[in-house]
Amino acid sequence: MKLIKGEIISNKKIGEGLYKMTIFSPYIIKHSLPGQFVNIKCSSESTIDPLLRRPFSIHDIEPDFKVFSILYVLKGTGTKYLSKLSSGDIADFIGPLGNGITLQENENNNFLLIGGGIGVAPLFFLAKTLSAAGKNVFFAAGFKDNNFLLFEKMLQGLKISYEIYSENGTHGKKGMITDLVIERADDFKKYDIYCCGPINMYKVLQNIFSLKSIKAKALFEEIMACGIGVCKGCVMKFKNGKDGYIYKTICKDGPLFDLMEAIFE
Ligand SMILES: Cc1cc2nc3c(=O)[nH]c(=O)nc-3n(C[C@H](O)[C@H](O)[C@H](O)COP(=O)(O)OP(=O)(O)OC[C@H]3O[C@@H](n4cnc5c(N)ncnc54)[C@H](O)[C@@H]3O)c2cc1C
Ligand code: FES
Repeated sequence: MKLIKGEIISNKKIGEGLYKMTIFSPYIIKHSLPGQFVNIKCSSESTIDPLLRRPFSIHDIEPDFKVFSILYVLKGTGTKYLSKLSSGDIADFIGPLGNGITLQENENNNFLLIGGGIGVAPLFFLAKTLSAAGKNVFFAAGFKDNNFLLFEKMLQGLKISYEIYSENGTHGKKGMITDLVIERADDFKKYDIYCCGPINMYKVLQNIFSLKSIKAKALFEEIMACGIGVCKGCVMKFKNGKDGYIYKTICKDGPLFDLMEAIFE
C-alpha cells in the first residue's frame, strides 16, 4: 500500500451518473488483487471538502498499458468532484487496500459472481482474472434499469457466460438477480461464489444459501473514514463462535468476508 499520484488517462460518462476513470499506475498493476480498493482524494489542493478520501474498488487493470480503472456512481461532493476531472489531471490515491482474492485459495473450476448495481465494479476485475486463468465464470448481474448497458459490452469482451436482470425489464430479463439464484440454487452448489452489492441483496442471498447449505464470499462497501483500520468507523458485526459476535473493520479486515458470517441489523 502506498500514497500515489497517477495521471488520469480518461474519465468517461458511460451511463446516467455512472463514470469510468482510467488512471496510470504501474504500482497498482503490480500489486493489486481483485476485491481490493483505492482511497482517492476527492478535493482540489485549495479546498478540504470533502476532507476524507473516498474508497473505490479496482474495477479493471490493463497491464500492457500500466493503467487501472474505477467504475463509479455520482453520490455526493466527492464523486461530483471526480466526475469533473479529465485526461491529464492527477489522481491522488492510496492503495491497493483491503484483502483481495487470490486464485491459489480456489481449486474449483467453476465460479459464480453475483453483482448488484455498482457492486459489479470489483467483480469485473475478478471475472477477468479468473477467465485468464482458464476458469469457468458465470457472471450474474442485476440492475434497476438499463443504465449499465455499456457494462454488458465490457462483459462481452471477456470469455465468460453471463446473465443480466433488471427490475424494470429494460436490460436483460425482468426481475431481481436473486430470482435467478433461487431458480438455479441447486446447480450453483458446485460453484465458488463471490458477490458484491447492496445489503438488501446480501440479506436475500444469505437466506437462499443457508437453506441450501451453500457457502459464499461477499465484498462489503460500508461507509468509510480513514480506510486503514484506525478510526473503526467502518465496523460491521460478524458471527463469532456458537452464539457470539465480533465487530470487524471493512477497510482492514475486509472488504472480503464470508457472507454467511455477516450479521445484518
Ligand atoms: C471498499 C469500498 C469500495 C467501494 N467501491 C465503489 C465503487 O467501485 N464504485 C462506486 O461508485 N462506489 C464505491 N464505493 C462507495 C463510494 O465510496 C461512495 O459512493 C463514495 O464514498 C461517496 O462519496 P461522495 O463524497 O460522493 O458522497 P457523500 O457526500 O459522502 O455521500 C452521499 C450519499 O452517499 C452515501 N454513501 C456514502 N458512502 C457510501 C457507501 N460506501 N455505500 C453506500 N452509500 C454511501 C451517503 O450516506 C450519502 O447519502 C465503495 C465503498 C467501499 C467502502
Ligand atoms: S474506515 Fe477507519 S477503520 Fe475502517
